[in-house]
Amino acid sequence: MGDSMNQIANLLGLVDLDRILNEITRWSPLLMLVFIFLLVYVMFRMLAVMPKTKPQEIRKAGRSGIGWDDIAGVEGTKDELREVVDFLSDPKRFKALGAKVPKGILLHGPPGTGKTMLAKAVAHESGANFYSQSASSFVEMFAGLGAARIRRLFKDARENAPAILFIDELDAVGGARGSDVSGERDQTLNQLLVEMDGFEASENIVVMAASNLLDKLDAALLRPGRFDRQVFVPPPDLRGREEILGVHTRDKPLSQDVELGRVAQHTAGLTGADLANLCNEAAIQAGRRDRGFIAQADFDNAFERVVAGLQSRKVITDHEKRVVAWHEAGHALVSELLPTVDQVQKVSIVPRGKALGYTLNLPQEDRYLKSREELIDYMKVLLAGRVAEQLIFGRVTTGASDDLSKVTAIARSMVYEYGMGTSIRSHQVPANDWNVSEKMRQRRDEEVAAIAEEAYRGAQRLICDHRDLLDEIAHKLLENEVIEHDEIVSIMIGHRDSALSPEPRRDPDRAAAAVVVSGQEPGEQPGSPPASPPPPGRG
Ligand SMILES: Nc1ncnc2c1ncn2[C@@H]1O[C@H](COP(=O)(O)OP(=O)(O)OP(=O)(O)O)[C@@H](O)[C@H]1O
Ligand SMILES: [Mg+2]
Repeated sequence: MGDSMNQIANLLGLVDLDRILNEITRWSPLLMLVFIFLLVYVMFRMLAVMPKTKPQEIRKAGRSGIGWDDIAGVEGTKDELREVVDFLSDPKRFKALGAKVPKGILLHGPPGTGKTMLAKAVAHESGANFYSQSASSFVEMFAGLGAARIRRLFKDARENAPAILFIDELDAVGGARGSDVSGERDQTLNQLLVEMDGFEASENIVVMAASNLLDKLDAALLRPGRFDRQVFVPPPDLRGREEILGVHTRDKPLSQDVELGRVAQHTAGLTGADLANLCNEAAIQAGRRDRGFIAQADFDNAFERVVAGLQSRKVITDHEKRVVAWHEAGHALVSELLPTVDQVQKVSIVPRGKALGYTLNLPQEDRYLKSREELIDYMKVLLAGRVAEQLIFGRVTTGASDDLSKVTAIARSMVYEYGMGTSIRSHQVPANDWNVSEKMRQRRDEEVAAIAEEAYRGAQRLICDHRDLLDEIAHKLLENEVIEHDEIVSIMIGHRDSALSPEPRRDPDRAAAAVVVSGQEPGEQPGSPPASPPPPGRG
């Protein structure tokens, strides 16, 4: 075979095959060496281009200037942090008294409440060196790199004490150990635990961290000696919101008619980041109209845009418009009839964002506790749109899906979290606890359904009893597309003499800003009240 191949090769004038094979065998060790050398070279090149995120260091000279004045509405948190500032700026005073500053401070709370800002302000005010790194940048696909970065971060901070070491979004590495398949995150967390044990209180280093999910963090991180101080950064209350609006309109020209107090009143439930966005939107609105100052109307428009979305160019049929008008009229009517529900500020059938129409209910003040009756009343408002559609058109549409999902969430919370069901009142069994009997599960499902049904029947009763009011509001909506609170009130007053006069509105204690939007797809609305109101005691 080989001979015949050689003959063929010879015939074709090609080189001898045996000779080539011999040559290869002779050179193979050298070729192997060259290959290994190339491999090592490529590896080194890869290591060289591998991301090397050096901790961002803000030296005294070039610090970004976020001070206490730039953060408003979180006075309690600021007071806690002032201690750290005092300690870092004058450690001797505290040491003389034998006091130790906490090693670690963990800021936790909902997104956008100002945690990152607070850490920057502490660094700015104390004059300490500030090392800030997001926890997600510790985790890489290369095992051990995260741990190495943690070591370097602490080493740098130690060499430049007094220093503040800030780890943002701690949950990226701080989650409970054991759930990480690659082991890299666990290793990074272990290194962090070791480093936090390794420095003494005398070293003038404070580790600060921010996280949205305190209950997901590893227990070892939270024990005394590590993040021993946990500071909750809450969403701002009425006064806080007004102050935050003040901060964000400091350098904006406002017209005489702007009342920040009123804006604050309408924005319950919004965080600092939402309010900053609102002020910016208002400025953009004014700019678009070529005005040199921001008017109250710009804030109103911006608010509508922030909570209900951009006005969309959806073209809807006349029939759809009628359905939306009665749907929204249902929400508005029931809100007006129920004294515990927030007053209706505006009803619109102009499509905005994903919604085809919306009813804007505005609270007068912050509320932290809600009774069973108030929750059921709120569900009645949510279901009123669907009930009105059924009553007027004899059929229901997909437009109520968002309302229905909110009703489900509230009814479930009432049974599973707040013990507001009929049979289980003395204890709480969360939905994800599978140690309950099949019978108990069934009973609770039935209770959820019963609560939602109670609300549906309530809404039905109110709408049927006030059918003429419903029609009048809907016709007005079809005529004008948007109606304000005053017009609804005048419609209600017009009917006061009739037998169906609404209950007088007692001045209600109010809850979070609510916008009942009606669209084809369910979607979280920033201004909507939480499906689970804050637990008792937080206020
Ligand atoms: N209390 C506040 N006072 C003034 N502005 C605030 C306040 N809270 C938030 N803001 C505004 O919101 C923006 C975002 O704040 P920040 O980044 O501190 O939020 P965060 O709590 O760290 O959010 P996340 O949990 O999502 O990281 C800030 O740049 C600021 O404009
Ligand atoms: Mg942050």
